[in-house]
Amino acid sequence: MPNARPDPRDDAERPRSELGILPILIVDDEAANLTSLAKVLEREGFTVRTAADARGALECLRAESVAVMVTDFQMPGMTGLDLLKTAKSVSPETDVILMTAYGTIEMAVDAMKHGAYDFVVKPFKRHDIVPPVKRAFEKQLLLAENRRLKAELDRSLGSRRIIGQSSVMRETLDLVDQVAPSSATVLIMGESGTGKELIARAIHDGSTRKNKPFVAINCAAIPDTILESELFGAEKGAFTGATQRREGRFERAHQGTLFLDEIGEMALHVQVKLLRVLQEGEIERLGGTQTVAVDCRIVAATNRDLAKEVAEGRFREDLYYRLNVINLRLPPLRERPDDVPLLAQHFLQTYARKNNKSILGIEPDAIVMMMAYAWPGNVRELENVTERAVVLARGDRITDNDLPPKVRTRGGAPRMISFPLGTPLEEVEQKLVNETLKMTKGDKRLAAQLLGIATRTIYRKLDAWGRGESDRADDPRQGEHDE
Ligand SMILES: Nc1ncnc2c1ncn2[C@@H]1O[C@H](COP(=O)(O)OP(=O)(O)OP(=O)(O)O)[C@@H](O)[C@H]1O
Ligand SMILES: [Mg+2]
Repeated sequence: MPNARPDPRDDAERPRSELGILPILIVDDEAANLTSLAKVLEREGFTVRTAADARGALECLRAESVAVMVTDFQMPGMTGLDLLKTAKSVSPETDVILMTAYGTIEMAVDAMKHGAYDFVVKPFKRHDIVPPVKRAFEKQLLLAENRRLKAELDRSLGSRRIIGQSSVMRETLDLVDQVAPSSATVLIMGESGTGKELIARAIHDGSTRKNKPFVAINCAAIPDTILESELFGAEKGAFTGATQRREGRFERAHQGTLFLDEIGEMALHVQVKLLRVLQEGEIERLGGTQTVAVDCRIVAATNRDLAKEVAEGRFREDLYYRLNVINLRLPPLRERPDDVPLLAQHFLQTYARKNNKSILGIEPDAIVMMMAYAWPGNVRELENVTERAVVLARGDRITDNDLPPKVRTRGGAPRMISFPLGTPLEEVEQKLVNETLKMTKGDKRLAAQLLGIATRTIYRKLDAWGRGESDRADDPRQGEHDE
C-alpha cells in the first residue's frame, strides 16, 4: 500500500482468522468508494459485505449478525443518521462507524449521541479507517466471548440445578445438604421421574468425594446373570465369554459414590452378595479368590415401597436396614403443585435456548392447568410437556393450546365459575377466593399469587367472612399491626 503510513500496531491487531467470521458491512452509494474500502478491509483479514443504500444495508443486518457497519453519512433515500437509528433497532449489537464529510462533523457528533461507535472524516486514508474498525470489531469479539461464557455457565449451573420451593421439597433439600458431606448410605425413595438420580448426583457433588467417580448402575436394566459381574467384576475365564479380567462398578467407584438405581429390582441372590460387600468393605471378583478392598459411598434409589417389599419377602430385611441409614423421600409432583410453575419456567428456559426460540413465559391459563394436572410421570413428564410446548409455541408465550390434551382435559380446563350479572361483588369475591383455595388445596400463599393479591389480604378476607378462627395459627399477620 504505497500511500499508507505503516500502522505500528498492525500485526498485533490483525484479526485472528478464526474470529474473522463476523462480517463488516460497508454502506456507500458511490460504487468506487465501496470497492476500495472493501479491498482495504479484506486485506486486513475481515469478511466484508457491501450495500449501495440503506435498504440493502438493513436487509443484510436482518440476514446475518454483522459485527460492524461502516456507513456513508449522506446518501440519497435515507441519511446515515436515520440508518443508524433503524440499524440499532434491527441489530442492536452491531457497532456503527460513520463516514462523514468535513462540513457535517457536528451531525456526526450528534450521531455519536445516538449510539454510533465512531466516525471518520472523508476523504480518509487506510490508517484512518482501519484502527476504529479493528477496535469496534475487537469489542464485538469480547462481547461475543462474554455471551458464550455466560451461556456456558448458565448451562453448567442449570443442568444440575434442583428446583423446588414447596415446603416438602425444601425439607428434602435441607436434608440433602445435611447428609451430603458425610459418607452415610442414603436410600432415596420416590415415584418414577421425581428426580432421584438428580438428588443422588447432588449428594455426590456435595461430598468430599466430588472429584472422584460417580458410578451409576441401573439394577432393573441389567439381567441378573450379568448384574453380579457388573457390580463385582470378573476374573478372566470366570464364565464363558470372560476373555479378560473385568473391573466391576464397585472398583470403578473406589473413593467415589456408587449409585444403585432401582435397587428394588435386584434379585435376592445378588442382594446377599451386596450385603456382604457392604458389611466387609471388600469385594471378590467372579471366579476369583482374592479380595479387593473398596471404599464407596452407597446411594440407592427405588420407586418401590421397600418396607412392603421386605414384608412380602422380595427384599432382604438386613440389606434394607443397611441401606436405609438416611432415608430421603422425594414427594410426587402432585403433592407440591406450587413447584410446577417454577419447574415449568426452568425447563422453558432450558428448551427455549436449545431450540433457539425466544419465549418469555407461560400464560396464566396454561399454568393453572399444569398445576391442576396429576403428573403421573412427575418432573420428567413435566419436562417433556414443557419441551413440547416450547417447540409448538407460535408467540413469545406458551398458551393452553401448546399443552397436550391430557393436561388440558384431565387436569380440567381451568375450573370455571359463573355468576348472573348484577351479583353483589362481595359474593363474587368470596366465591372466587374459596374456589381458588380449593384448587390450590388450601395453599393461601399460592391462591393469593394466582389472584394477584397479597397473602395477608386473603387472610383478612377470610377473617371478615367468618372463617378466620381455625386458620389463625399460620396467619402471617401474627404479631403485625393491621394497616
Ligand atoms: N427438582 C428438580 N429440578 C430440576 N429438574 C428436575 C427436578 N427433579 C427432576 N428433574 C429432572 O427431571 C428428569 C427426571 O429426573 P430423574 O431422572 O432424576 O428422576 P428419577 O426419579 O431418577 O426417575 P426414574 O425413577 O424414572 O429413573 C431429569 O431430567 C431431571 O433433571
Ligand atoms: Mg432414575
